[in-house]
Amino acid sequence: MNLILMGLPGAGKGTQAEKIVEKYDIPHISTGDMFRLAIKEQTTLGKEAKSYMDKGELVPDEVTIGIVRERLSKPDCEKGFLLDGFPRTIAQAEALENLLSDMETSVNYVLHIDVPQDKLIERLTGRRVCPECGATYHVVFNPPKVEGKCDNEGAELIQREDDQPETVKKRLEVNVEQAQPLLDFYQEKGYLVTFDGDRNIDRVFEDIDKKLGGLVR
Ligand code: AP5
Ligand code: MG
Repeated sequence: MNLILMGLPGAGKGTQAEKIVEKYDIPHISTGDMFRLAIKEQTTLGKEAKSYMDKGELVPDEVTIGIVRERLSKPDCEKGFLLDGFPRTIAQAEALENLLSDMETSVNYVLHIDVPQDKLIERLTGRRVCPECGATYHVVFNPPKVEGKCDNEGAELIQREDDQPETVKKRLEVNVEQAQPLLDFYQEKGYLVTFDGDRNIDRVFEDIDKKLGGLVR
């Protein structure tokens, strides 16, 4: 199954992605995670992406489309994939349509996690992540078993650099502006399914799972 996760920063894309890929055994393709890895490895891509991400702006379309094209050509995507945080512009959405058509496949669902904007700042500033495995926590809504430590690795949890209040504000602005045209694009194609993301993590997953259950072969 070919899925896209959409939602504003902090809506819970990464959190739900962890659960979806575990149950449905498809690769999780997060452009944000790919950029963060490139930054950690100090590659040319990482240096370019960092200059935008630090300001809360979008990385240019041609760069982003390029890394997704390369990733989707890997053999593990033949059984399907879960895109998280891509596409984020109409140009990216159109490029994806062309890519999938070349692969003789198409999107099954665009899963849109809808959360009121005033809840997102609290989610983002309270987020903690594992630098080793990327697992995501929240100091209040999804705390680790031992405070400050990853449940999987025991590694010391950190805050994402772009979760500073000023950058969060900019990211929200940028993403709110891009979101509606994309939702319209996918609504028109008949792929869009919207979930109420303003409930606890397990309840949101239950609804997504119900919808996806219908797709299992
Ligand atoms: P990216 O990493 O994709 O960031 P984002 O879109 O801003 O989204 P987040 O990862 O911040 O939020 P999320 O929805 O995954 O929420 P999470 O599950 O972690 O992108 C980063 C940057 O890379 C962009 O700003 C841009 O510069 C660049 N980029 C990436 N893709 C690009 C593209 N396509 N084009 C151009 N540039 C691109 O949850 C957040 C917190 O809330 C966590 O603490 C979690 O525990 C908690 N939480 C989750 N669900 C719930 C719930 N139901 N109830 C309570 N708390 C919850
Ligand atoms: Mg994420």
